Amino acid sequence: MDWTVETLADKVVGKPRGRVDEGSWELFSDSLIAAVQAAIGGTLGVVVGGAVLSPGLARRESSWLPAGRLTDLPINQPTPVMLRLERQDGYQRVIDRHAVFLVRSGESVTALDSTCTHLGCRVSWSSETQELRCPCHGGTYDRTGAVTSGPPPEPLARFATRVDKDGRVMVQL
Ligand code: FES
Repeated sequence: MDWTVETLADKVVGKPRGRVDEGSWELFSDSLIAAVQAAIGGTLGVVVGGAVLSPGLARRESSWLPAGRLTDLPINQPTPVMLRLERQDGYQRVIDRHAVFLVRSGESVTALDSTCTHLGCRVSWSSETQELRCPCHGGTYDRTGAVTSGPPPEPLARFATRVDKDGRVMVQL
């Protein structure tokens, strides 16, 4: 018995209706399946590979952010400020928030990271004891960020700062 089969292959290659040569059909369908698999694999490779590799490969550029006015900062008193850094992460815009302490000394300013170097809790300034205190395990730092007691292994990290000609304090993240 002869079969007339209209197949996707006929539509794709414009083959007239008629008998199907089984050998060529198998060859064509194998090729078609391989092509579809390659297209899917390639697409997934680009999407997954890009998502996995791009954050690691992307060079994170540092940014100078305005953090307040020099004249608003008390001398030698760590003043907390929240800095917002907007960046692109893959297909999303992400806002990173960084809490830093600005410590003015004359006309210059030091910016201390508020992240405790023990296990990463956020420190706060105690005007009563005149120290930066960590609420988690009792670590303390002085106004320069040096460890004065407790488990923190290192001083608080610092960010570069500058004061622009308009008196704005800029912090580099
Ligand atoms: S996290 Fe700050 S002392 Fe442990």
